[in-house]
Amino acid sequence: MMTVTASAPGKLMLFGEHAVVYGKPCLVTAVDIRYMCTAQRNGTDFINIDTPELRTSKEITTISMSSLENPSLPFRTQATAFVEAAVRGLYEKHDFREGFDITTEGAPKQYGLGSSSAITVATIAALDELFSLNLNKREIFDLAYSAVLSVQNGKGSGFDVAAAVYGGSLYYVIGGKEIETLPDVDLPLIIGYTGEKASTTSYIRHVAELRENHPKRIDRFFDFIAYLVEDAREMLIQGDWKTFGELANVNQSILETFDISPPQLQNPILAARGAGAWGAKLSGAGGGDCMFAVVDEDHRPKVEAAINEAIQQRTLEEVAVLDFAVNASGVRIES
Ligand code: MEV
Repeated sequence: MMTVTASAPGKLMLFGEHAVVYGKPCLVTAVDIRYMCTAQRNGTDFINIDTPELRTSKEITTISMSSLENPSLPFRTQATAFVEAAVRGLYEKHDFREGFDITTEGAPKQYGLGSSSAITVATIAALDELFSLNLNKREIFDLAYSAVLSVQNGKGSGFDVAAAVYGGSLYYVIGGKEIETLPDVDLPLIIGYTGEKASTTSYIRHVAELRENHPKRIDRFFDFIAYLVEDAREMLIQGDWKTFGELANVNQSILETFDISPPQLQNPILAARGAGAWGAKLSGAGGGDCMFAVVDEDHRPKVEAAINEAIQQRTLEEVAVLDFAVNASGVRIES
């Protein structure tokens, strides 16, 4: 029986987090931490979903094809919600008429590098191939973005979904209003994982509250972030990494005024700058997960050591500097 495996990369937000939720552009690069989805028809009226890296028990989630007729049913488990949402969204447009087994595979550790959106995208791509639906990238993006929104209560700009679908480095506007692939350059980055998981939705809510209390002030910050994104896009195209790093510092200082950069982020960011990085900032919603530094090759070893030390002092985390390539390729069929 035919088995299809699709894989999709994770993401690293470079510039523009939070402001992107309010219609401003952002820059994101795909990270080569790949999430897989394997699908196989099973000749029944049931869909069996296994997400071994996410589930807490040995159970496999089974849903009937008929339950797909009712998209308002709650998701069966948290561990399978993104796969279920992807299957439902696809079913609304393309009737499968046959059950299948789906298994996901990916890094068991969550670094905040976009595992949920990558799994959603890989699921849609695998089913596209299995049922010969011939979806193009835009259709995969639209289906995956709707699926992600349905799990995340309508929250999220979709930049992570775009990174998973298109790969490379992107200039992106919410909902995929603009998705521009930037030149395939060697981004001189170091990614540091703080060892502390952050709740994206609670930080989105925090910034929303700030904006409710200070609408004009926060919108001015967003406007300035948008200006930095345009500038950084240009520096990326020109390969001016020194300025790119300095712009990262400015973007970081705005995120600090939003009060989303606690010591677990602040320490490695300051340590990286102290060790000679051109710039360093948090990546994503804030509160934890990842930061990155922009470095020239001469300073790389010193900056890596400084990030490692700053993070390990707090968390005893063994893996602080993550060794994943950026500018990774987008969703693809593996077999
Ligand atoms: C989270 O990684 C980045 C945010 O801008 C949310 C989003 O864009 O979906 C805070």
